[in-house]
Amino acid sequence: KALRERGSVHQVTLPGGVTAWVIGNYADALAALTDEHLSKDSAGIHRILGAQLLRAGKTPELSRMFGSSSILFMDNPRHDELRRRVSKVFTLRRIQLLRPRIERLVSEMLEALPRDRPVDVIEHVAFPLPLVVICELLGVPLDERHQFRDWTTAMMEDDPDRVLPASRAMEDYFDKLILGKRASSDDGLLSALVQLAERGELSADEVMDMVFLLFVAGHETSTNLIGNGVHHLLADPRRWRLLGHRPELVAGAVEEILRFDSPVRMAPYRWTRESVQYGGVVIPADEIVLVSPLSAGRDPHQYPEADNFDVRRNATHLSFGHGIHYCLGAPLARLEAEVVFTALTRDFPNARLAAEADQLRHNPSVIMNGFSALPVIPGGR
Ligand code: HEM
Repeated sequence: KALRERGSVHQVTLPGGVTAWVIGNYADALAALTDEHLSKDSAGIHRILGAQLLRAGKTPELSRMFGSSSILFMDNPRHDELRRRVSKVFTLRRIQLLRPRIERLVSEMLEALPRDRPVDVIEHVAFPLPLVVICELLGVPLDERHQFRDWTTAMMEDDPDRVLPASRAMEDYFDKLILGKRASSDDGLLSALVQLAERGELSADEVMDMVFLLFVAGHETSTNLIGNGVHHLLADPRRWRLLGHRPELVAGAVEEILRFDSPVRMAPYRWTRESVQYGGVVIPADEIVLVSPLSAGRDPHQYPEADNFDVRRNATHLSFGHGIHYCLGAPLARLEAEVVFTALTRDFPNARLAAEADQLRHNPSVIMNGFSALPVIPGGR
């Protein structure tokens, strides 16, 4: 709301000292996500962000997240070609086959919860579930789980001194893992990507950047979806109980959570190849642009009573992006959330929030939008 009240488009200074233009209303955000004048090419991001970091007295180096072979940071025609090759192994069928395993994982996690005292839903469900799922999907051993938590959390922060060591440590780790997968016959996604590389369909850098992206993009985003959802469903216990009685409404509720409190505050960096005009504002060439699905999701020009959370709203949103970079992992994120909310509302009909909204803290991140902790009393049946 604060963003949109200042106009759909305006310049902000991010905590790391970087300046960017934020696009906050729905119509402009939708147009910007498919505007070819707004590039995602990593070379431009390195050049523009690097110069800005240097001016702010920081190391002008970016993490491996912005790798030059990452599908998230390249334009067409290269993007579609790479996405087509990756989609051969990252298939909908591979995701759908995960349902029974995700259901089992969720029921084990929920059985371990105490009933009568506050438990942090982020620590016990929202964080570990997507982590275990992405590790199993990729075929990554879970023994380094605590490292993963530190790495992915640091990767989302704005301070390069925190981001870069985490990025390097992850790269070293994945390097060794990829090497080990060359002789492996497991049916994980990482082995499948390595096999594509052995057939000459992917380069070594494309494998590394893909693993990086899947790991980072596929984890904290889903954690935030679950955490934000528990918060908004429990904010009015009638919503929670409705889903407990009517599980067929859960899928729609997940979409409403995505609209109402997007796990992604800003879609990751774009830059202007030439000057563009949005909302009557001219953004010059060579500027960083951030499109905000979080703000767009509450735009009253797009959604009647935008600030009302309504599990039956049945509206589309921009939280998985739009256009060629539309989230590759959307079916997985939806599946995880659907399984979690179905089980939670069924097994804990009397759950309640154990902290007031103003006591909750959000993770410090320009890109991500989620709670660092969310205490809930699960309650008895
Ligand atoms: C792209 C959001 C979960 C993998 C994106 C984009 C958004 C997004 C907004 C587009 C970014 C842009 O245009 O700049 C989300 C949200 C998630 C989620 C809200 C969870 C609630 C996942 C998961 C995976 C994943 C679980 C994989 C395991 C990707 C990939 C891309 C992407 C690979 C890049 C696609 C491309 O550039 O072609 N995601 N994501 N995401 N996401 Fe997700």
